[in-house]
Amino acid sequence: MDCFSLPVHEALIIGIIFYKLWESLMELYEAIKTRKTIRDFSDKPVAREVIERIISAAFLAPSNNHMREWHFVLLDDRVKRDKILLDTISPISAKGALGIINRWQLKDISQRAMYLDAIPKQISMLRDCACLILPCFRQYSPLLKPKTLSDLNNLASIWLAIENILLAAAAEGVFGVTRIPGETERARLKEYCQIPDGYEIPCLLALGYPAENAKRAAQVEINLPERIHQNTW
Ligand SMILES: Cc1cc2nc3c(=O)[nH]c(=O)nc-3n(C[C@H](O)[C@H](O)[C@H](O)COP(=O)(O)O)c2cc1C
Repeated sequence: MDCFSLPVHEALIIGIIFYKLWESLMELYEAIKTRKTIRDFSDKPVAREVIERIISAAFLAPSNNHMREWHFVLLDDRVKRDKILLDTISPISAKGALGIINRWQLKDISQRAMYLDAIPKQISMLRDCACLILPCFRQYSPLLKPKTLSDLNNLASIWLAIENILLAAAAEGVFGVTRIPGETERARLKEYCQIPDGYEIPCLLALGYPAENAKRAAQVEINLPERIHQNTW
């Protein structure tokens, strides 16, 4: 029996199911397309239930050992978090940023524009965001001395969880940025948040509603056929 010979109401139900599946697939692609890094935040708070919903998406990500050994610390105390940020991150002006990207010899125009915008905002984006999160993951071997690729599995897994957070956030109209902390900053944050031994932080995750004129960096153009290889590169 094909769907043309089904009674009308059954065919209708199957049609609705397919439409709903197609609709949620479109919503997923929409969230993927909408997600962009935002470093300029409005002062609108993000409701606690939205934050919890977004973080619940993290726990749907794949994990290397099946255990999803992740915790998320919300840094709500603005006074204390500002102190750590100001103590550990050196501010860099627009002129300083230009010096850095010239030293790095970056050539791509959109990459240069992204760094020119991003470098001077490393402190403000973390201070201004409505919700600053410290993702934490279980790490069984010294994080900075991996001997095999598998030693990095826990780090890889939490980044999948972070991507889920960014996509779920985008679906909620919330955007953000990840910052890789410097080593002093990482140590201070771990100490301040009393992260237990055996846990590490991959980044700081700043989330919030975008400011009215928030900058979104143009993506580097990718030619898809050039990036997909058949059997050999
Ligand atoms: C692993 C990783 C580390 C990043 N580190 C930083 C960072 O330290 N500071 C920052 O402002 N943005 C950081 N970013 C954001 C990137 O700059 C951003 O994702 C990139 O420019 C692409 O822009 P898009 O996210 O809008 O597509 C990081 C992103 C990733 C995936």
